Amino acid sequence: MKPRILVLYFTQTGQLRHILDNILQDIKDKAELEYVAIEPVTPYPFPWKAVTFFDTMPETVQHLPIDIKPLPEHVMNGHYDLVVFGWQPWFLNPSLPITSFLQSPSAKVLSGKPVITVIGARNMWLHAQEKVKMYLEQVNAKLVANIALVDTNTNIISTLTVIRWSFTGRKEAKGLLPAAGVQEKDIQLAQRYGTPIFKHLTENKLDSLHQELMMIGSVKLNPALVLLEQKGIKNFRFWAKYIREKGGPGDPKRFGRVKQFKNLLIVAIFILSPLTALLAAIKLQLKKKSLLKDVAYFKRLKYEAGRI
Ligand SMILES: Cc1cc2nc3c(=O)[nH]c(=O)nc-3n(C[C@H](O)[C@H](O)[C@H](O)COP(=O)(O)O)c2cc1C
Repeated sequence: MKPRILVLYFTQTGQLRHILDNILQDIKDKAELEYVAIEPVTPYPFPWKAVTFFDTMPETVQHLPIDIKPLPEHVMNGHYDLVVFGWQPWFLNPSLPITSFLQSPSAKVLSGKPVITVIGARNMWLHAQEKVKMYLEQVNAKLVANIALVDTNTNIISTLTVIRWSFTGRKEAKGLLPAAGVQEKDIQLAQRYGTPIFKHLTENKLDSLHQELMMIGSVKLNPALVLLEQKGIKNFRFWAKYIREKGGPGDPKRFGRVKQFKNLLIVAIFILSPLTALLAAIKLQLKKKSLLKDVAYFKRLKYEAGRI
C-alpha cells in the first residue's frame, strides 16, 4: 500500500506551493499525496496596500487569530502517515493564517503525526519556527525534519525585491534588481529532498531524516541573521503592543502609530540594518562560541522555550 501524505500549506503568491511541488516531485507517484490549502475566511489582498500590510503586524506578532476555513471532514478523519506542513514568516512570526490554523480545532489533524516543516521565506524564519515548534508540541505532533528555502541575495536586496513584489505583484528581475523571492534554481533543486523523505518514511526511520536532509543542505544559517532577528523581534513586540493600545485591525485611531512603525522599519532596514550587520560581525567575533551554539540549536528540531 502506498504511504499517505497530507500536504498542508498556506500561500499567497503560490511560491510555497511551487516549493512543495518540487520537494515531492520524485515521490508523487509512489505515495498518495493530499494537498490541502489553509484559507482565511477573508483572504488578504495581493498585491498588498501599504496600509494593510503594516497594519497586519500587531496581530501577527501577538498571534491573535483570524477566522480560517475549517479543514474538510474527510481530511480531519483521514489516515496519514506523514504531514508536510508548508508555512512562511510574516514579521518574524509565522504568517497570521498559519498561527490561526495552529490555534484552531483543525490543528487536531496534526495530533500524533510525524511532521516535516517546509519554510519559504525571505531570510528570517528562526523565531517563527520556534513558535511553530511550540504549537506542534501543544497538539502532540512530532517534528521530524525541517527544510528552509530562503532568498540568498543580500539582506538589503531581498528586502527591496520583497517590497516591490508585495506592493506591485512584480516578481521578475528589472533594472538592477534581481527577481524576488527564493531563487528558482534553489526551488528546482529542492527535488533532491523527496527520495530521502520517502525512504525514511517507508523504512520507519523518520528519526534520522532531519540529519540526512541537513547533510544535503536543508537548513543553512547565517549567524549574523540570528543577531538581527533577536534585535528585530524585541522591537516588533514593543510596536505591536503600542499600536494595539489604540485599537484593533483597521481602526483609524491606530493609523498614526502604524505609520510611525512603517517609517521606523524603513529607517531600520536601510540605515540601521547595515550598521547592525557591522555590529553583528563584531559581536560574532566576540561571542563566537555562544552564537555558534545558537546556530546549532536553530538548525535542530528540539524546542526549548525562550531561546529567542
Ligand atoms: C506581511 C509580510 C511579512 C513578511 N515578513 C517576513 C519575515 O519576517 N521574514 C522573512 O523571511 N520573510 C518575510 N516575508 C516574506 C514571506 O515569508 C514569503 O516568503 C513571501 O511573502 C511569499 O510567500 P507565499 O508563500 O505566501 O507566497 C513577509 C511577507 C509578507 C507578505
